[in-house]
Amino acid sequence: MARGHQNFVCQACGALTKKWQGKCDACGEWNTILEEVALEAPGFGQGAGKGKAVKLSSLSGPADRSERFMTGIAEFDRTLGGGAVPGTAILVGGDPGIGKSTLLLQALARMSESGLKCVYITGEESVDQIRLRASRLGLQDADIKVASETRVKDILATLTSAERPDVVVIDSIQTMYSEAVDSSPGSLTQVRLSSQNLIHFAKKTGAAIFLIGHVTKSGQLAGPKTMEHMVDTVLYFEGEKTYQYRILRTTKNRFGSNDEIGVFEMTGTGLIEVKNPSSLFLSDHKDPTEGLAVFPSIEGTRALLVEIEALVVGSPAAMPRRAVVGWDSGRLAMVLAVLDARLGLGFGASDVYLNIAGGMKVVEPAGDVPVAAALISSLTKRPLPADMVMLGEISLSGDIRPAAHLKARLKEAEKLGFGRALVPKAAKLPKTTLNLIKVEKVGDLLDLFDIKATS
Ligand code: TYD
Ligand code: MG
Repeated sequence: MARGHQNFVCQACGALTKKWQGKCDACGEWNTILEEVALEAPGFGQGAGKGKAVKLSSLSGPADRSERFMTGIAEFDRTLGGGAVPGTAILVGGDPGIGKSTLLLQALARMSESGLKCVYITGEESVDQIRLRASRLGLQDADIKVASETRVKDILATLTSAERPDVVVIDSIQTMYSEAVDSSPGSLTQVRLSSQNLIHFAKKTGAAIFLIGHVTKSGQLAGPKTMEHMVDTVLYFEGEKTYQYRILRTTKNRFGSNDEIGVFEMTGTGLIEVKNPSSLFLSDHKDPTEGLAVFPSIEGTRALLVEIEALVVGSPAAMPRRAVVGWDSGRLAMVLAVLDARLGLGFGASDVYLNIAGGMKVVEPAGDVPVAAALISSLTKRPLPADMVMLGEISLSGDIRPAAHLKARLKEAEKLGFGRALVPKAAKLPKTTLNLIKVEKVGDLLDLFDIKATS
């Protein structure tokens, strides 16, 4: 085959340039441009011979709604939107060492038990290492075929020659390479081409293919957004290394909701599902504690109770500190400004620390009210009731706006034995056994502490 011309490709955004340069003009990143030589592909309209007419179908015909491949791990199946769809590609991204290989090996073992033919191809480890992991997980007898290989051509030849597999795991896509392009494994062109070939295999044979992907330092999948467009489903496996729990998060799903989560715990013998994750993030304070509020947050379609901790202390510095973990610092500044302006509470001379317990991250605006309540509680040294959850978005004018999914949030609080909920007044209220306290203005929060606004 004819060699194509040289291309210089930015590894961060995929932009093409004619010559090497230090900085990519398209995305502004430095040192991301690499030379890649592609084999000449026939240009648009220049291919040999005429095209072949394809059959056009009407929309109303029967859809081939084949059964899904269930992993048997409920938390995993839910993030997939009810099991893996045959003939599709699923990208599983995550930091190194977070447990991607472990999760997929455990899922394959469960799927093989239900009679699916499973193949695990690793480009990162040897077959012996996979065996060691399997025996650590107690899965040494699972009917999974394993190979250590990185050449896509050989992998495809293997998969098409042997018994046709139902489920294939490729660990990881960054180690795979194809000779059709002359660049090293892990480069954008290689990742793109290898994925294309593997995805084509899945579509042609009806196998479900899981591609494991690495995440770059900035938290994006390496060989970045291009890959997310090519696959049908994108899952991220995330968590703080220092905590045992891991969250599997759907960010794209052609066959289900795209913000589901599954919660797991990493133990000495593999990942186990956490069926009731709220209990994971709540401490067992029986007594009311200053600066602590409980927020029923929503992750995907499920509610999760998280603890918001605030500490307000007098500061000797001219510029008091504001430190935030797990919540947006811009939003904290906004809530503080509203509390100062509308209620005359003086946070100006104090250091303010805000933390979401358990290493969770909260991005919902409905967390404004519990954040404000935790701040006031710490400032006034008066604890909030221990049996109360609270939610609502605070506007700049000090109004409390309603939040979505109230029913699911209150149900979760009920389930965990809470007795009271502070909710926005404008909200349509579902039936609940909780005692509801309706608030309209941020000033109404002061009733919880028996204090009056000063402005
Ligand atoms: P691994 O699945 O290799 O992560 P990834 O494929 O995402 O790089 O898991 C790595 C970590 O998980 C490793 O530090 C050891 C830990 N681990 C356990 O704690 N328990 C186990 O049963 C297994 C298999 C791994
Ligand atoms: Mg791995």
